[in-house]
Amino acid sequence: MEIKSVGVLGCGLMGSGIAEVCARAGLKTVVREVDQGFLDKGLAKIHGSLGKALEKGKLSVEARDKTAANLSGTTRFEDLAGCDLVIEAIVENLEEKRRSFGALDGLLRPEAMLASNTSSLTLTQLAAGTSRPDRFVGLHFFNPVPVMKLVEVVRTILTSEEAFDSAMRFARAVGKEPIACKDNSGFVVNRLLVPYLLDAIRALEEGVGSVEDIDKGMQLGCGYPMGPFTLLDFVGLDTTYFIANIMFDEYREKRFAPPALLKQMVQAGRLGRKSGRGFYDYGKK
Ligand code: CAA
Ligand code: NAD
Repeated sequence: MEIKSVGVLGCGLMGSGIAEVCARAGLKTVVREVDQGFLDKGLAKIHGSLGKALEKGKLSVEARDKTAANLSGTTRFEDLAGCDLVIEAIVENLEEKRRSFGALDGLLRPEAMLASNTSSLTLTQLAAGTSRPDRFVGLHFFNPVPVMKLVEVVRTILTSEEAFDSAMRFARAVGKEPIACKDNSGFVVNRLLVPYLLDAIRALEEGVGSVEDIDKGMQLGCGYPMGPFTLLDFVGLDTTYFIANIMFDEYREKRFAPPALLKQMVQAGRLGRKSGRGFYDYGKK
């Protein structure tokens, strides 16, 4: 199936990026948020990102206008009914995701595909609750979506070959490089990345080094573009905490267990860049 129109659930950090790359690739894109306030904030993020690309000469005025014309926002599931593919990018919570897929499933055409951008939930448990488990895949984008080239395309034992091939073609059509993954918690990248990020927090708790020195160590010693604490703040400490809990539940291995400091920072509302403060201070929001 050729995908010409895309729905995106959630217009936060990831949903806004996914909607942007789809609209830029010439696909009709509708993004849904829970209320008008979140929607306005998410759409403003997309228009801000397009504005920056224009300033930097990476996007022409014509391409910016075409992208804007391809994009619309809504708070109603019904407005996604005509989409060929809907990608869910809402909060990392099984029940919330199940509720959203449940609300959407009956509205879509039978041949339409569903995808989740989940970081850590296994997909079979989401797919099995819909009427189209054969057309359900994982499409795991990376943050910041307009920049990062990778998409993990995930199939479950219920996914048809045809749907998997469509998803691989879709990832390429929006300018990304796909890799194929099986349905395990964390797929390829987070299976390796999440224990590393959590270990950095444990190293901090144990006094191995300061936030700044651990970051500098990994940047200058290993050539990573961001040190672990800068990356944790960038991903969001709330999202990292949800991911760690889900992966720990799945694997029961200490390396996936959320450190106490991570939990306390989330409880204290220090969520990283999104709240203005995490391991670093980004100034008042
Ligand atoms: N949106 C759009 N474009 C952005 C951007 C954003 N949020 N942030 C940076 N960019 C663009 C800049 O415009 C710039 O483009 P040009 O070179 O064409 O001008 C380019 O990215 C590089 O940006 P900067 O020079 O400002 O900054 P940088 O060199 O430090 O790069 C970065 C920024 C690309 C984010 C880089 O630091 C990086 O790669 N960091 C690591 C990101 C990472 O690991 N992501 C994965 C997170 S884990 C995940 O996503 C999975 C999960 O499930 C949690
Ligand atoms: P976020 O907190 O920035 O955004 C989530 C958005 O979803 C919020 O704007 C919220 O209002 C909205 N939302 C909540 N329930 C909704 C619903 N029922 N319908 C529509 N919108 C709803 O979170 P995020 O970082 O964008 O993460 C979203 C998903 O992407 C999660 O599954 C996360 O694990 C995954 N992910 C995150 C990253 C990252 O670096 N943050 C990277 C890859 C994947």
